[in-house]
Parts: sequence; structure tokens; C-alpha cells
Amino acid sequence: MAFPIQRLRRLRATESLRTLVRETHLRPSQFILPLFVVPGEGVRKEIGAMPGNYQLSIDELLKECAEAESLGVGGIILFGIPDKKDELASGAYDDNGIVQQAVRAVKSASRKLVVVTDVCNCEYTSHGHCGKIIDGDVDNDSTLDWLAASAVSHARAGADIVAPSDMMDGRVGAIRQALDEAGFGMTPILSYAAKFASVFYGPFREAAESTPQFGDRRSYQMDPANGNEAIREMELDLEEGADMLMVKPAMPYLDIIHEARQRFPTPIAAYQVSGEFSMIMAAARNGWIDRERAMMESLTSIHRAGADIILTYFAKDASRLLG
Ligand code: PBG
Repeated sequence: MAFPIQRLRRLRATESLRTLVRETHLRPSQFILPLFVVPGEGVRKEIGAMPGNYQLSIDELLKECAEAESLGVGGIILFGIPDKKDELASGAYDDNGIVQQAVRAVKSASRKLVVVTDVCNCEYTSHGHCGKIIDGDVDNDSTLDWLAASAVSHARAGADIVAPSDMMDGRVGAIRQALDEAGFGMTPILSYAAKFASVFYGPFREAAESTPQFGDRRSYQMDPANGNEAIREMELDLEEGADMLMVKPAMPYLDIIHEARQRFPTPIAAYQVSGEFSMIMAAARNGWIDRERAMMESLTSIHRAGADIILTYFAKDASRLLG
């Protein structure tokens, strides 16, 4: 008998065979495109480290949304850069804040896109931290009030989903209770449950102008070394009422995505963050890597690991390619 009998190469011989047996398929409707909104009109300012991504005024944001929608992209997540920042993050929970205005505009222009809002304070505080500073560190419990108020004002503006990204303990419970009391019992929470203190957020902080003015975020975001703790974070968020769980970043944490998929029967999201995007773009611009293939391979891997929903700066380009 000739060896080997099992030849896995048989099913790889032609593109048609490969297509027939392909296990993982990406869909534009599973992508969420992050967008940065600023005050003003006619503003479309490219973010240096994130080619093809812009700070957009609301009129420009609507163009971006129309394009995303026409490509079949499932949704957008909005980040706001306010006119003024202060110690109290007032812009975050102002019913007339930049994100609240943007949500109202997008919701009246688009019927299809799912509008997610990032619930956090770091874009709104003068010090760039995600909450109220007491004795040189972010105070957990007083920050919960800001988060709950932000989530309610986003829901009031018409957000389809609120997504807390601050990593305070108990925020999902506090937000759920506040939403319910304000009459938004049907607004789902997508929790950034396993959010690591990652170097890969660097380019985002340029985009959102949210670099901490002192220290770092390691007293609230997770240690990249900890997998069991990520599971505890996700369990707790589900107990507190999260409807969906997110892992962030994505590619360096595929093991966490996979484990979340095995353990929790809820939708799992993953955020392919700014640094993951910028690395691919930088290598492609140097001619060191093929941009399209790197984009599709990274997204396929994130989906294969178990993410149903992918937040990605490639949402439009990948959707265009998927046709
Ligand atoms: C807000 C927030 C951050 C990101 C999403 N929400 C930045 C941070 O935690 O410093 C990062 C997203 C990205 O890098 O693309 N807290």
C-alpha cells in the first residue's frame, strides 16, 4: 500500500474545491466600523497613524455612514471628540454632546446601520483618564454615575446599543439599572468585558485625543498576561446584565476569544484595534506585506477563533472585497 493514504492536499487542489470545503466565511453584516466625530462643519481630518480614517464633522459622518451602509456594513461605533474637556467629563453625558448629536443625525438618515456608542470618559476628561480622579487614581464608584448618565443620554438620542469600554467594576450593572429606570429596558449592552491594557491602542489615542496626561490605564484595564481573569470579567458582566461580550484587542488575544466562544452562549465581539490596523497599513505601505491579504487573513482568524461581530477599521474595505 502506497503511503500516505490520507492526502489532505486533495481538497486543496483547485479554487473550487477550496471554496467548497471552506469553514469560515466573513460577511459585511458582521462588521462594525469605528468612526470619530468632531464639532464643526466640513471637517474631514485624516488621522496620521490611521490612513483612510478621519475625524469627521456630522455632515461628513453622514457621508461615511451612507457609504458603509451601501457596502452592507452591519453597524458603526461612534467616538466623540468634544470642543472642551474638563475634570468632570461633562461632554460625555450632555444631551447635546457631540456623540448625542451625531447619533440623532445618523438615526434620522439611516434605517439599516446599527448605531453603537462607546461609553467612556477618556475623550471628555482634561486628564485623559476614563473616570474621576481621586488621590491620583481613577475612583471606581463615583465614575459609575458618569457612565450610567452617558449611557442613558446615548439611548435617549437613539443609540441601538451602548458599549461601555472603561473597565470600572460594576459598570454593566449600574448602566443596566439606569437604562431600565429611564425607560430604556430594550437597549442592549455590548460590554468591553475583556479589555486589556494594550500598547495597540496608541493610534486611537491620537484619533480621539485621549492620551492620559499622567500615568497609564493599568489600574483599570487588564494585564495582558491574564486569561483566567478575562473569564471572570466576562462572567461578572453577564451576571450584571451584559447582552454581548467583547474581547479587545483581537489578534493578540485569539485564545481569549476562543475560550469566550466555548464558555458563553452569547454573541461574542472582538475589536481589531487601531494598532492592529496601523501595523498592517504600515507594512503594506513599505511593500513588506500585501494589504488586502493581510486584512482578510486577520479578519478570518478573528472570526474563526469565535468572534461573531468584529469591530474593525477595515469594515468598508473588507466589505467591498466580499462584494
Ligand atoms: C476608550 C477606548 C479606547 C479604545 C476604544 N475605546 C482607548 C483606550 O482604552 O485607551 C481603543 C480602540 C482602538 O485602539 O482602536 N476607553
